[in-house]
Amino acid sequence: MGVEIKVDGLTKSFGKDLIWKDVSLTIPAGEICVMLGPSGTGKSVFLKTIIGLLKPDTGSIVIEGLDIANCSEKDLYEVRKLFGVLFQDGAMFGSMSLYDNVAFPLREHTKKSESEIRDLVMEKMELVGLLGAEDKLPGEISGGMRKRAGLARALVLDPEIVLFDEPDSGLDPVRTAFLNQLIVDLNAQIDATMLIVTHDINTARTVPDNIGLLYHKHLAMFGPREMLLSSEEPVVRQFLNAQRVGPIGMSEEKDADELEQEKDEELPPLPPIPPQIEPSNGIRRTAMREPGAWCRDNNVTPPPGSFDDNVSMAPGA
Ligand SMILES: Nc1ncnc2c1ncn2[C@@H]1O[C@H](COP(=O)(O)OP(=O)(O)O)[C@@H](O)[C@H]1O
Ligand SMILES: [Mg+2]
Repeated sequence: MGVEIKVDGLTKSFGKDLIWKDVSLTIPAGEICVMLGPSGTGKSVFLKTIIGLLKPDTGSIVIEGLDIANCSEKDLYEVRKLFGVLFQDGAMFGSMSLYDNVAFPLREHTKKSESEIRDLVMEKMELVGLLGAEDKLPGEISGGMRKRAGLARALVLDPEIVLFDEPDSGLDPVRTAFLNQLIVDLNAQIDATMLIVTHDINTARTVPDNIGLLYHKHLAMFGPREMLLSSEEPVVRQFLNAQRVGPIGMSEEKDADELEQEKDEELPPLPPIPPQIEPSNGIRRTAMREPGAWCRDNNVTPPPGSFDDNVSMAPGA
């Protein structure tokens, strides 16, 4: 059913370099969350901290009652079994077939027989649509297939939490759309808690239940998708709508002169909120809310045209 991840007051630096500070958020069990942010804001560092590969300076990450930021190596080893991770490049072993890549965690972490392993590997290969490609080497298949294979491997130990580091990087828009649909379908099927790190605003606008935005060394906002997509907060608005006008500049923050120059530029209206992607496998997602429910419950008027079936793309995307 997935497990909750409760992050409180998390701060991370490398030497004198502060990456982000005081990040607090709760990802509810079984929900999909997207963490957005410009390149270099520490999204990958956030993921690695969540699985305990990096230690934060301060703060806690509580999963099933265990604070993985402050626990023993032994406890960490145990809690890691709850996680499946899809790293940015798929992180496949280049000299192993897809079959052996997917079987790897089972051979490492379980005492299952080769015939049990075969059943599990084939089940996951089918889940990600790769049945028949088991004997291929990672170098022989497309980037999209490599991500799927990486996903099969991330799922092979039946994780309660699946983390994705830029699953859409290096994929064309059509492959990204297929992968996003696969993520939603998987969530319906296995009910795991999912955290997707990306800078793709279309993924953020259509896939998750919740969105977070890391910017300028802090968590600018975190909450339900409809909350961020209807937000007028300048950083959130600029990033989620891919706009040039706003506080975010080419490298980091705009300086006072730059902001002064654009102060009379009119902001384009907020675009409609697209409907959230629904499972294509006919299974209902436990976490799925009725379109517009958050706005209605919080007396927020969504931008005109929101939740129409033909609204799916962000402007300029
Ligand atoms: N192991 C590390 N040691 C020192 N600095 C690191 C390490 N990992 C990441 N960083 C730095 O942390 C910052 C954020 O990196 P990263 O999380 O990869 O950004 P993003 O994924 O948002 O593009 C970068 O400046 C990067 O150089
Ligand atoms: Mg990264």
